[in-house]
Amino acid sequence: MRDRIVAGLTSIVGATDVLVDSDLRRTYETDWTGRFSGTCTAVVRTSSTREVAEVVRFCNSESVDIIAQGGNTGLVGGGVPRSSSDRPSIVLSLCRMNSIRDLDTAAAQVTAEAGTTLSEWRDHARASGLDTPVDFAARDSATIGGAIATNAGGSRVLRYGTMRQQVLGIEAVLGNGEVVGSLSGLPKETVGLNWPSVLAGSEGTAAIVTSARLRLVPRYDQTITALVSVANIGAAVELLGQLRKSVSSLDAVEVIEPAAMDLVAEHLDVEQPVRASQVGTYMLIDCAGHNDPSSELADAMAAANGVIDAAIATEGPPRERLLAFRDRITEAIATRAQRIGLPPLKLDVAVPLNALGQLLEIAQQAADDDGALLVPFGHLAEGNIHLNYLGATNLDQVTETVLTKVAEMGGTISAEHGIGIAKSRWLHLIRSPGDLAAQRAVRRVLDPNGILNPGVLTPDA
Ligand code: MLT
Ligand code: ZN
Repeated sequence: MRDRIVAGLTSIVGATDVLVDSDLRRTYETDWTGRFSGTCTAVVRTSSTREVAEVVRFCNSESVDIIAQGGNTGLVGGGVPRSSSDRPSIVLSLCRMNSIRDLDTAAAQVTAEAGTTLSEWRDHARASGLDTPVDFAARDSATIGGAIATNAGGSRVLRYGTMRQQVLGIEAVLGNGEVVGSLSGLPKETVGLNWPSVLAGSEGTAAIVTSARLRLVPRYDQTITALVSVANIGAAVELLGQLRKSVSSLDAVEVIEPAAMDLVAEHLDVEQPVRASQVGTYMLIDCAGHNDPSSELADAMAAANGVIDAAIATEGPPRERLLAFRDRITEAIATRAQRIGLPPLKLDVAVPLNALGQLLEIAQQAADDDGALLVPFGHLAEGNIHLNYLGATNLDQVTETVLTKVAEMGGTISAEHGIGIAKSRWLHLIRSPGDLAAQRAVRRVLDPNGILNPGVLTPDA
């Protein structure tokens, strides 16, 4: 069976791009946190939509499961093989498909293949005086396909929305090998099902995204970044309100809880640049415009209560240094996790802004009960907090406690990382049985033999 699968795949993409040796497969079989891993029959690296379609048709006929993978930066186990499966599987790596073409300045659009990294997308846009609407720390490895599959968010959602809102056209391969979608990028079209909407957030189930027509935004050269300490999370939310009211150049409003600030400062081997009160929190505010945003930012900060201290930089290395306090938290967590010898438990959740304080208290209690260190940070503007537990041992208990409360608060159990295999058993907390049944039915139509990322997203009935 294995030999037949390898021979069939080799006849489509060539021997160089079918990796069967365990040493060559290894980095594709484990997620980068080290928490999720499994074994596949082969890693297949396609170079075109035609090859993807042929690989899917072959796998469909042989009942081989397909795990699509981009930069392998996912955090919920959706991009690596399952540890327990009685069917053969392949990792379909889209990383060789990274060409960018047809940048249209007037339409502010570009077409990128699924394996294009976010940095490559951004560099291409900037070379034409434009910019990309989505950005996050894993930009050098995370790919367009993965960002669409997880409906990734990042730091600029308050200005431009999530990945879903950036996809004007899509080309994708269904579970039977059929190619669907269009890359024409027409902003207005009403002709039935809209594939970008169907596939954004589908996590490699339903179809494999091969290319997308993507929105671009203006490149602003007047920037200002502020790292601010505030009295508590309520003061952070109040300042967010002021910023929304009066700062037209607002790009990002992020939150860094003290434990995250301590960890990243230690990791960067630098002093924290702002004073904080004992129970305070930190915010990273980023503005960008055609005109200098300094005075509107200063006015908003002056109008808010509870601001303790601020470090401000407008450009160059001083600004990069401030941004690093937010950008490099994930790396700091990974480094500490390696030292402890246990992968971090990462819970990406969002709640209404008025519930943030309560969420942080409950999350802390769960950490204390487990003897773990809680490192919270995230995207304040969307009430999206990344709860990272270091040294946690009772992962299911912590997850159950936190996600149940999040659901009770009217929040979501995944704001931007996806459900993957990590959270599929908790999806019922925020989706009714009827909803889940409908999602399974849609999935069956698009992937009749259930070969695309089984076990991910919708749990078995
Ligand atoms: C981030 O906001 O930095 C990412 O979502 C990564 C993470 O949560 O670790
Ligand atoms: Zn995030």
